[in-house]
Amino acid sequence: MRHFISVNQLSESEIFSIMKTAEYYQNNNFQFNRQLFAANLFFEPSTRTKNSFTVAEKKLGLEILDFHSEASSTQKGETLYDTVKTFESIGADLVVIRHEADAWIEELDSKVNVPIINAGAGKKEHPTQCLLDLLTIYQEYNRFKGLKVVIAGDIKHSRVAHSNAMVLKKMGATVYLSAAPGYVDETMDFPYISMDEAAETCDVVMLLRIQHERHDGQLTGTENYLANYGLTKEREKRMRPHAIILHPAPVNRGVEIDSDLVECERSRIFKQMSNGVYIRMAIISKILNEWGIRNETAFEKRK
Ligand code: CP
Repeated sequence: MRHFISVNQLSESEIFSIMKTAEYYQNNNFQFNRQLFAANLFFEPSTRTKNSFTVAEKKLGLEILDFHSEASSTQKGETLYDTVKTFESIGADLVVIRHEADAWIEELDSKVNVPIINAGAGKKEHPTQCLLDLLTIYQEYNRFKGLKVVIAGDIKHSRVAHSNAMVLKKMGATVYLSAAPGYVDETMDFPYISMDEAAETCDVVMLLRIQHERHDGQLTGTENYLANYGLTKEREKRMRPHAIILHPAPVNRGVEIDSDLVECERSRIFKQMSNGVYIRMAIISKILNEWGIRNETAFEKRK
């Protein structure tokens, strides 16, 4: 794997292997035994993904180079390509990128000689979020085959929906979408169901926030959003006994989900965030190993 850009790059067995590595890192300390540098280039706001990569990198022993887009030379007109080449030139061993463009990788792909991990590309993909969602589902059910998963919310503008629908189908789950009229993505070949049907029939209810930042001021269908399209307390009562709630967060409490449900018994929202650290450790070690940096050192086990 040269860069990790899309979940489509991974076979079913590679996904299981990454989840296994993540669970290993959950229980054991591992570090690379040579000095390595990571650059986290976030051109869009992030709380979870950026800090989760930071924790993952620090746990693996990487040093993190300082970058804040608003205080960087991108403000003087430097391109993404030249920014990445700069980090490559000064010795970064890994570059993590979040950018508002859907296709930023096309500008970089074969021209840079440093591994890149996609931490969110426009409306297109969020592959590490997808893998942590898979791990959270797998830890619940120990399978994907036969599960009914609904992805509900602003499907049209969501990179999480695009990554997750493709991969959950590949792993054997039956995927449904649920969205208000303005948020339907006609290009996605999955059946749409109502939130009532989703709550009553699905094993996993994955909610998404309205992606205001990608609407170009064209907001539609937001009136009575929670009652019409969100997970209300009344709908939660009708969920299957074992069914779980996921959300990549940030959550807009009271919009796509009733605030009281964010931390309810069925919710795995904060577990998703914890799993994100270990999934990112697994992806970082996989890509660095595949670039020839193989010498990890085991530290004493935590338990
Ligand atoms: N889930 C997610 O990508 O959250 P952040 O935008 O806070 O990174």
